[in-house]
Amino acid sequence: MAHGILTGKTGIITGALDEHSIAWKTALLAKEEGAQFILTNAPVALRMGPAKELAEQTGAQLLPADLTSLEDINKLYDAAAEQFGQIDFVLHSIGMSPNVRKDRAYTELNYDWYHKTLDVSAVSLHKMLQTAMDRDLIREWGSVVGLTYIAAQQVFPRYSDMTDAKSLLESIARTYGYFYGVKKKVRVNTISQSPTPTTAGQGVGGFDRMITFAERMSPLGNASAQECAEYIISLFSDYTRKVTMQNLYHDGGFSKMGVTDPLLDVMSREWAPGEEFFPQGWDPITGAPDKK
Ligand code: NAI
Repeated sequence: MAHGILTGKTGIITGALDEHSIAWKTALLAKEEGAQFILTNAPVALRMGPAKELAEQTGAQLLPADLTSLEDINKLYDAAAEQFGQIDFVLHSIGMSPNVRKDRAYTELNYDWYHKTLDVSAVSLHKMLQTAMDRDLIREWGSVVGLTYIAAQQVFPRYSDMTDAKSLLESIARTYGYFYGVKKKVRVNTISQSPTPTTAGQGVGGFDRMITFAERMSPLGNASAQECAEYIISLFSDYTRKVTMQNLYHDGGFSKMGVTDPLLDVMSREWAPGEEFFPQGWDPITGAPDKK
């Protein structure tokens, strides 16, 4: 049920690829809550994906922008300034790693791709913030939210170089949050979301096992994309005006857990005498018995 908590607010929502995307759910809810916004995604994503439907449903302008490009960011902000003057919120909901896509382990990175991962998934937030502050695009008490994952704090071996990208993203949010806060009273936060079945999420090796593990480790269960959208909306609203520079866990409690009884039960089965804990031929780099 909508409460109108974004009535009169305007913004930019990045990264709505399809109906599973966290940004897609956020756009639908932002609309319900009374906001107006511009939708944007990488040109290739707009050509191939169904984002036009979302734009029609929400009455939003849909603009292509590669958010690693300052030129594209400026064009996007020109459009936002023309339509709204200043805006109240920005959702940074983008991520991409060529190393993850090509199944490159953290110890076998292609460094050109590594740069690309960091640029798309983290530096793009800095570019969006710096360009917005230069142009004074975001109104006082505005809110910028990025999306991250707990692999920034703890080791999840299959997350490859995205782990570094998320650490950088969180650092940018924290540090830029200081500067934007003192200069313009704009808040900047990241939400650390549970594994979520989206295109980006499912690209990570062993995703199905990860999501099951997280579900069993979280007292409240995994947070869905819809629930993430609801949390994002609260951070865009006036009810969270003094929350800034935070990395906010939205994960059903996963980040505070050490172990749960059902997992201990699974681990404590009877081991045959001399049985190895790790399966035969298990490779610590790829995590797979069937590779290398
Ligand atoms: P998604 O695949 O629906 O969204 C990722 C978006 O990034 C796509 O729309 C894609 O077109 C866009 N993108 C990639 N390169 C771009 C570029 N150069 N310029 C502009 N846009 C670009 O997946 P999801 O899960 O909704 O991802 C949103 C955010 O949530 C990402 O930052 C992701 O890392 C983060 N996240 C996702 C989790 C998951 O398990 N799905 C868990 C924690 C965080």
